[in-house]
Amino acid sequence: MTAKEKEKGFATRAIHVGQEPDPLTGAVSVPIYPTSTYVQEEIGKNRGYEYARVSNPTRDRLEENLASLEGGIGSKVFASGMAAINAIATMFQSGDHVICGHNLYGGTPRLFNQVLANFGMEFTYVDTSDVNKVERAIRKNTRMVFVETPTNPLMALSDLQAITKVCHARKVEVVVDNTFMSPYFQQPLALGADMVVHSTTKFLNGHSDGLGGVVVCTKKEQLEKLAFLQKAAGAILSPFECWLILRGVKTLAVRMEQHDRNGRAVAGFLANHKKVRGVFYPGLSDHPQHELAKRQMSGFGSMISFETGSLKNANKMLRKVRVCSLAESLGGVETLISHPATMTHAAVGPDGRKKIGITDGMVRISVGVEVVDDIISDLDQALDAI
Ligand SMILES: Cc1ncc(COP(=O)(O)O)c(C=O)c1O
Repeated sequence: MTAKEKEKGFATRAIHVGQEPDPLTGAVSVPIYPTSTYVQEEIGKNRGYEYARVSNPTRDRLEENLASLEGGIGSKVFASGMAAINAIATMFQSGDHVICGHNLYGGTPRLFNQVLANFGMEFTYVDTSDVNKVERAIRKNTRMVFVETPTNPLMALSDLQAITKVCHARKVEVVVDNTFMSPYFQQPLALGADMVVHSTTKFLNGHSDGLGGVVVCTKKEQLEKLAFLQKAAGAILSPFECWLILRGVKTLAVRMEQHDRNGRAVAGFLANHKKVRGVFYPGLSDHPQHELAKRQMSGFGSMISFETGSLKNANKMLRKVRVCSLAESLGGVETLISHPATMTHAAVGPDGRKKIGITDGMVRISVGVEVVDDIISDLDQALDAI
């Protein structure tokens, strides 16, 4: 991000950085370049583009935009959030050790334990909300601490400034999965993190119509390694998907404001409902890390989990929802409601879920931007089924 760009507000950058009018036609929407290759004038003479796995103009624009929103020096986009996390992990080597949060999105430990561990990488899972546990887990061969804050679905926070301080003292990099908050409400790089990853499938795109992932970097070497991995491994994002995200981020600021307003109202409703046995939302004053949430984030977002008491109760209510849609995923304009034990965290297994506190009665809601009274009435009538 240039110094001039830094002066501009978030929503202005979301709409304009990388989204400048097309120099050829003046089109205000970034053109989609659906090409696999580029004509060269003579051997070794081209216009900066040779082959689409290596680079694409639509992708360049998106990478510039997302780097600006997270305050990084650059970013690289991948075919999904998991492809982005895989790219980060493959920047390291066999024998390297990674410390991870014990309550990550279920697909991340699945990748680490069932794929990358087979290639000699080592993973330790700790409760990253306790910085002492992170510090104690650091070994000689530790290269990275991978943190999700708030966690999915328990909404536990990790203190990013405290973690980066202990990690940097031991030359360990900190990578933050910022999917739940989006750069609008949380800026991990400003708090000291070395890289940020997102599933752009969620809030950044915001319309539940395309998968994607991004890694935002603070150092040139990270960016070069990731560009090499795009070329070498090929899990790049298609130009059309890049364009969907470029379109989506234009409204990120207004969507996040509405998500946050609706999230607070729904959390308040659930906290006062007699059939709900517990609510996990950092915006509630009784959330154990409410003070950290106020310090580290500029909003609380719209991800909420709550306890219905049993699998039977969860299913009874989930069968009844009408405005909310029972589906995996999150961060879209529509309210999505899901069941972590059988969906996002099925791969963790019953013992793994028990260890971290994910019960069969837990329900997670990604509050959308519909009229909030309609969402609340829908939840109210669905909870009546319990
Ligand atoms: C926090 C988080 N990180 C990463 C991912 C993986 O992203 P994708 O589904 O785009 O591969 C998800 C998916 O739900 C997620 O919730």
